This record gives sequence, structure tokens and C-alpha cells, in this order.
Amino acid sequence: MSNKARVAVLVSGGGTNLQALIDAQHSGLIEKGEIVVVISNRESAYAIERARKAGIDTHVVTRKACGGQEGFEAKVKEIIDGYNIDLIVLAGFLTILSKDFVTYYDHKIINIHPSLIPSFCGDGFYGIIPHEAALARGVKVTGATVHYVNEVADGGEIIAQKAVNVEDGDTPETLQRRVMEQAEWLILPVAVAKICRKIVAERR
Ligand code: GRF
Repeated sequence: MSNKARVAVLVSGGGTNLQALIDAQHSGLIEKGEIVVVISNRESAYAIERARKAGIDTHVVTRKACGGQEGFEAKVKEIIDGYNIDLIVLAGFLTILSKDFVTYYDHKIINIHPSLIPSFCGDGFYGIIPHEAALARGVKVTGATVHYVNEVADGGEIIAQKAVNVEDGDTPETLQRRVMEQAEWLILPVAVAKICRKIVAERR
């Protein structure tokens, strides 16, 4: 078995955060981790294409095909456990995971959220919505957060954060792009690299 932590990345959309992880693995920044599987809940997610181009195994698991949330989570668990995963990364993954699921993988799931938690987070705050809320509130600084996933939406222990300035004239889209470029795509790979180093060190 390679001396690397085995990482699963769960996706739903464009996969820019997945791409940042793939690039960080190839550059050596994520030295002690290997992305061995990408799981999407949407067949159309471009993230799947990114994974395929990188030669990473992919699986599409939909609630519809699995007959609902319980079957969906059972299938995702079957895949994760079949790959002997050490760390699960939610990267633009837009499906709720049950308390049972996140409790089963306690302290093994991390998420990237596009705001400085505890601002603009929790139920209903995903994708472009945190940026719309930040602009509506008039904050001058926002950013991104990497955190452990627990049964409370965006409520787990914070691992890393990075602040990003809100610029005059920002739209939710321009702000989202800046937060992705200047925060998400930087702090998520660094956090994964750090956690993978710890996982491997604790194996000894
Ligand atoms: C982005 O809004 C990001 O902030 C959040 O999910 C959305 C899509 O990310 N994590 P990705 O391009 O699919 O990684």
C-alpha cells in the first residue's frame, strides 16, 4: 500500500476546487495524499470530466437511481469503503448528507464553504447565495472557510480561512470568482495536504 492518504472528492458542479486539488497533487503540494476516486451526484457535472482527464476513477450516484436518500448514501458509502478512503473532501458538493452518514465518518469529511464562517453559512447558503448575502449586508471583507463536516450545516470545527476584499461594483458573480481564485483554490489544497501528512504520520 502506498504511503499516502487515500482521498475521495465529492462534487456536483464545475469542479474548479477539484481541479485545484488535482493540480496541487501533481505539483507535489499534496505530497502525502492521493485522490483515488471522485463521486458526483450529477451526471452532467464538469468535475467528472476533470477527473477523467486526470485519470481518476469516477462514479455518478444519484438519489433518483438509488431510490432516495438512504439508498444514495448506502451507495456512496459502499464506494468510499471499497476504496479504503482516509479523507473525504466535499468540493462544491451540493447534496445534504444525513447525521448518520457524517457521524459514521466523524472527523473524516471536510468541506470548502464560500464565506468566513460563521457569516453567511448554514442551511440554504451555498453556491452564489453567500456572495449575494455578503453584498446585501454590505460587508467589506468576505472569504472562504475549510471546516470539518458534522451534523450541523457548516457547523464543524474550522480548519482554515482566508479573507478576500469586496470591491466597489462587485456583483455576486465577480465576488464569487475572486473568492474562488484568491481563497478557495488556495486554502483547500493546503488543508488537504496538512491533513494527509497527519494521517500518514499517525500510521507509524
Ligand atoms: C463554488 O461556489 C464554491 O464556492 C462552492 O461550490 C461552488 C462550485 O465549486 N464550494 P466548484 O467549481 O464545483 O469546485
